Amino acid sequence: MVVVFNFGGQYAHLITRRVRELGSKCELVSPNIKIEELKKLSPDAIIFSGSPFSVYEKNAPHPDPKVYDLGIPILGICYGQQLIAYQLNGKVISRSTKQFGKENLRINNSPLFKNLSKKEVVWFSHGDQVDKVPGGFEVIASTKSAHIAGFQNLSKKIFGIQFHPEVTHTQKGTTVLKNFLFDIANVKKDWNLGQVKDSIIKAVKSEVGQEKIIMAVSGGVDSLVAAALIKLAAPNSLHLIFIDTGLMRKNEVEEVKKIINTVGFVNFKTVDASKIFLSALSGITDPEEKRKIIAREYFKVFEQQAKKINGALPAGSQVKFLGQGTIYPDRIESAQPNKHADKIKSHHNVTLPRSLKLKLIEPLADLYKDEVRKIGMLLGIPQEFVGRHPFPGPALAIRILGEITPDRLSILREVDGIFISELKSNGYYNKIGQAFAALLPVKSVGVMGDARTYSYIISLRSVDTTDFMTADWTKFPPEFLEKVSSRIVNEVRGVNRVLYDITQKPPATIEYE
Ligand code: XMP
Repeated sequence: MVVVFNFGGQYAHLITRRVRELGSKCELVSPNIKIEELKKLSPDAIIFSGSPFSVYEKNAPHPDPKVYDLGIPILGICYGQQLIAYQLNGKVISRSTKQFGKENLRINNSPLFKNLSKKEVVWFSHGDQVDKVPGGFEVIASTKSAHIAGFQNLSKKIFGIQFHPEVTHTQKGTTVLKNFLFDIANVKKDWNLGQVKDSIIKAVKSEVGQEKIIMAVSGGVDSLVAAALIKLAAPNSLHLIFIDTGLMRKNEVEEVKKIINTVGFVNFKTVDASKIFLSALSGITDPEEKRKIIAREYFKVFEQQAKKINGALPAGSQVKFLGQGTIYPDRIESAQPNKHADKIKSHHNVTLPRSLKLKLIEPLADLYKDEVRKIGMLLGIPQEFVGRHPFPGPALAIRILGEITPDRLSILREVDGIFISELKSNGYYNKIGQAFAALLPVKSVGVMGDARTYSYIISLRSVDTTDFMTADWTKFPPEFLEKVSSRIVNEVRGVNRVLYDITQKPPATIEYE
């Protein structure tokens, strides 16, 4: 397997995903991992990720330097490169300005750069840079601004690169990763989703046996695929609940019921808890507060429902397990927060109601979103369901900036419904990563007929992404945006202006709060 040291860089997950896409098992680990633990994983290759830190900063993550003596090939990316230089007695200098964007890389001969030209376009995103390579290392790449943009110690199989091979802006990035993994480190290609699916079902089966399992579904892909896997492992033992928070999109409740029926779940219950949520959120404007209130109320309702289900079951066959659709990035980011990564948002779908004292079953805990979709397809779930865009747990509450009111909710539902239906009818929906409308809590002046209007502003967001860790805005033809915009202002009372969001992630996030 391949191990990625997570120094907290934005692209650490992307590196892991890329390695899996190339066909090898890959795990993110904390930089504080003990050498003994690392040895137990017996990695064939190690990759050091980037980081928001400078190597000289207090609290900057530094792994145990014994890692360099294990004889395992290492590739340091960005901060990872600087770290190698720093820990092996090279020299790293701080720059006052950050270098961010495309650069032309000049390349020397190296097995890391096999099948690359002498000049390549690469992506930089860093503050510091290496000024002197450690003893035994040689320079293998440079740019106009960085005289050392890559170095190697061939006999130790240790490499450092200043650029990010994992992002698509680095045109030959995948080739660089392939060279490192398969030529230099001889990593095996044995990560296969069909086998992964079978071993998940087997593992759930042996853990759960005949016991009962409870699970909340959101209509999203993760909980659906997780529930489908559990159903295969433990037929008839699964109880599903869908909680309608009143923050759902247009027709969401009906959609979820349709999905549940199509996939063939038997014990399923919908709970209308909209009044509870809307009253708890009344007057709340702070994004984190909204998220926390929703999580708290959600678990209260869930707990009540769990008790009801238990009450109806014969004594001795009470629910013992809680199924969850937690995926790999949720687990790494929220459940075991990496103290080196900045906390951006508290995602609410990972903490469970402890008072229930149920054992957790998370069939997707090692998988990324695109892998979850592929497993869904392998299970025969129709594309129209597995292809659904992600929808956040806090739902429309984080797409209405500021206070949530029934009026704003109903406006946003209509607007979002128009946007999504136009995306579908124009053949865009399955080509983009995620799209939605957000309501800005400000009003602007417009004119309709001969009358003055003073109404809300809507922002449309559509992003191209597969990992949801980085995203680019979708370049729609202007005619399409015009059509959507005019439908919205003509059909939805309370909106007189439509904006299209052209911000990448980073620096923006996908959702607005
Ligand atoms: P951000 O806004 O962090 O979103 O760029 C990345 C992806 O995560 C989704 N998201 C959530 N999903 N619970 C979820 O299940 C949450 O609290 C949550 N917040 C954001 C978001 O829709 C996007 O796909």
